[in-house]
Amino acid sequence: MSEICQDPLMEAALAARSMAYAPYSRFTVGAALRTAEGTVYAGCNVENAAYPEGTCAEAGAIAAMALAGGRRIAEIVVAGGGAAPCTPCGGCRQKLREFGTAETIVHIVDAAGATLLCTSLAALLPHSFGPENMV
Ligand code: THU
Repeated sequence: MSEICQDPLMEAALAARSMAYAPYSRFTVGAALRTAEGTVYAGCNVENAAYPEGTCAEAGAIAAMALAGGRRIAEIVVAGGGAAPCTPCGGCRQKLREFGTAETIVHIVDAAGATLLCTSLAALLPHSFGPENMV
C-alpha cells in the first residue's frame, strides 16, 4: 500500500514533527492528513507539565482540519523517531474513526521518512464504534 501514499504528505509530517513540543517524553511526532477533497493538514504533539494533558500529533492535525471545515480523512502519515512504528494511540484511533473510513490509509514513517508500516484504519481499530453506529 505504501505506493499509494503521497510524498508531499510525508514531507508535511516530517516538517510538523520538527515543530513538536515534547520536552518531557523527548519523543517528537508529526502527522499530516489528506482530506477526501485533497487538502493537507498537519499537527505535532504538544506536551505540558501536567503530563496527561498533552496532545498527540494526530489530534493537532484533526483539529486543524476541522477548523478549516474538513470532515473526511482519506489518508494520514505519522512520523515518529524510533525504530518501532509510531502507531496512533487508542484515543487517536477513535478520533481518526470519526472522520475516516475503514479504508483510510494510515502510513507510519521514521524520522527520515522511510516507511515502517502502511495499514488501514479498519486494521488499527476493528469493529469500531462511529457515527453510523448511532443511527
Ligand atoms: N504521540 C503522538 O503524538 N502520536 C502517536 O501516535 C503516539 C504518541 C505522542 C504523545 C506524547 O507526547 C509522546 O508521543 C510520547 O507518548
